[in-house]
Amino acid sequence: MTEPINPFPIHGYFGPELFCDREDEKDALIEAIRNGRNVTLFAPRRIGKSALIQHTFHFLKPRWSCIYIDVQEASSFKDFSNLFLTGLLNGVKNRKPLFKKVQEWLLSFRPVLSTNPHTGSFEVEVDFKSNSQQQASIKSAFSLLDELGPAVIAMDEFQHIHSWDDGIAVEAWLRAEIQHLKNVRFIFSGSQFHLLSEMFQSAKRPFFASTQSIRISKINPDIYRAFISRMFKENNKTIETSDIDSILEWSDGNTYNIQLLCNRVFSKTKKKADSSMINESIVEIYTENRLSYFALRNSMSKYQWQVLSAIAIEGKMYAPTAKDFLKKYDLGAGPSVLRALEYLLSRELVYQYFLDNGDKYYQVYDIILMRWLQKK
Ligand SMILES: Nc1ncnc2c1ncn2[C@@H]1O[C@H](COP(=O)(O)OP(=O)(O)O)[C@@H](O)[C@H]1O
Ligand SMILES: [Mg+2]
Repeated sequence: MTEPINPFPIHGYFGPELFCDREDEKDALIEAIRNGRNVTLFAPRRIGKSALIQHTFHFLKPRWSCIYIDVQEASSFKDFSNLFLTGLLNGVKNRKPLFKKVQEWLLSFRPVLSTNPHTGSFEVEVDFKSNSQQQASIKSAFSLLDELGPAVIAMDEFQHIHSWDDGIAVEAWLRAEIQHLKNVRFIFSGSQFHLLSEMFQSAKRPFFASTQSIRISKINPDIYRAFISRMFKENNKTIETSDIDSILEWSDGNTYNIQLLCNRVFSKTKKKADSSMINESIVEIYTENRLSYFALRNSMSKYQWQVLSAIAIEGKMYAPTAKDFLKKYDLGAGPSVLRALEYLLSRELVYQYFLDNGDKYYQVYDIILMRWLQKK
């Protein structure tokens, strides 16, 4: 990708200079991969899984072929197979001898090859005629990589495989193919903890006990503070610690929201950032999202919206059926709240977080929506 003008990109990965921390997580990933262990990477959305995968690839690339597939982009095994071939070709494109071999191998499938004008990446499209043809091509790609190795394949948002009709069967098939590869390692990442953990930790499921799990959480605020300050300084601008703190506070430590707000504040700053720029940026963000929040409100019952708002105002909600909570927000009976909560969880509007001591709490998933509901 090309260099961004703003040091706080909100999409993609732009190299280690613009990447904050994740040293331990990156080292853990590299250590697992170098030692032949496949990894599952868990975290809620927008904490930084995909960026961490790219960051890790950056350090592995000199020796490893690094292949990235966003499983969310695939709505079927056929899509997945094409994404895989696309990821494969892009993953080896900077390694000339390998690239040639992969390209030759690929030609036998009569693909339509194109280049994305925005990213410069290749796109591969094969008109597969059957599942078995798809399986055969992926299997053959795995063997090719195993021969040419070492390679690492990241399947991002892997739990999405379950949205396909034949997802479970594909999962089992993949497991069988993966286990005897010697030079190919896998990273399975996902945001839907319950789905992914069931796939990887349930004894009945094909991936049981086959991977090391790594969880990532919010970036340490002290490290983020120093990083933000440095990004401003390196661009001949300044920002006071108290202003950085209010950015981190509003963002609730969520990586995407921190980047989003810093990106705005940075672009408004000539020499020195101040709190009015932060406030203006927040208002802009609300304005841009307002319509979709109104649509969201119309997509559910009044009561469900009321429960969502109550959780937002609480910030962290520990006990959905506690008397105080029900009374404070006029929510009626406990079982009704539980039903609404289940609905909000299933729509990923609310997320269930676990503390180290096993306690759990609920929070509105989208921090911008949470802040917007809080101020109303
Ligand atoms: N360590 C980091 N430093 C700076 N920006 C980051 C970092 N991690 C993630 N980001 C940014 O935050 C946004 C969300 O990260 P992403 O990797 O897409 O999250 P996830 O895959 O967990 O949903 C991305 O736009 C990315 O640019
Ligand atoms: Mg992601």
